[in-house]
Amino acid sequence: MHAQASRSKPDQDLPAAQDRAAHRKSSIRLLGFDVGVGNVAKALERTQAWDLYKARTQQYVHADISDIWVRYNSIDNFRDLESFNDQHESVWYPVAYEIPALRFLVNDVLANLPPVELGGVLITKIRPGGCVQPHSDRGWHAEYYRDKYAVQIKGNAQQAFCFDNISLSAEPGQVYWFDNQQVHWVTNNSDEDRITMIICTREID
Ligand SMILES: [Fe+2]
Repeated sequence: MHAQASRSKPDQDLPAAQDRAAHRKSSIRLLGFDVGVGNVAKALERTQAWDLYKARTQQYVHADISDIWVRYNSIDNFRDLESFNDQHESVWYPVAYEIPALRFLVNDVLANLPPVELGGVLITKIRPGGCVQPHSDRGWHAEYYRDKYAVQIKGNAQQAFCFDNISLSAEPGQVYWFDNQQVHWVTNNSDEDRITMIICTREID
C-alpha cells in the first residue's frame, strides 16, 4: 500500500489549492517551512549505504552522483531499469530502518503538505565541482508521482538546482518543490558535497 501523509497541521496552514496549482506553472519553488536535518546529515557521514545500487548512477547524466535508495520498487523486482521504473508499489529500503531519522525527516515534510501518496525517496550527493547534466526525468514513476520535493541536507550558495529561466541555491533545512518533467540540471561549484533528499509524491485528488 502507498503510505499517506496525515494532516498534522490545521487546514489554514496548508497551501491553498490555487497556490498549489500556481506552483506547478513554475519549475521550482522554495516552500515556506524548514525542517531539521542535523541528525540525518551526521548519520549520512557514517553510513555504508551509499551506492549500494548502481543502476541509477551508471546513467550518463548521473555520473557525478552518489546515491542512497531510501524507498522505491523492491530491489527483488529488478530485472532491468526500464521495467524496474514501471508501475509498482514503493517499499522502504533497509537504510530507512538503519537510520530512522530518514523516515522522521520524510514525515516532517509530509506533515506540511496536503495529503499525498508517497512514492520513492532518494538521497543524492554531488561531489565538489560535480554536476548533473541537463535532462528531464521520464517513466511511470517520474510521471505518476509528479510532485517532487527536495530537502537540502548539505550545500551552500555555490551549488544550484537550475532550469532555463530560474535556479535555486537552497540552504540546509530548506525544502523546495520542483518539476522534473522540465529540463533541469544541478551544479556544485563549492568545496563541499551537495546532499539532497528527494521525496516523490502524488497529491490525493
Ligand atoms: Fe532529474
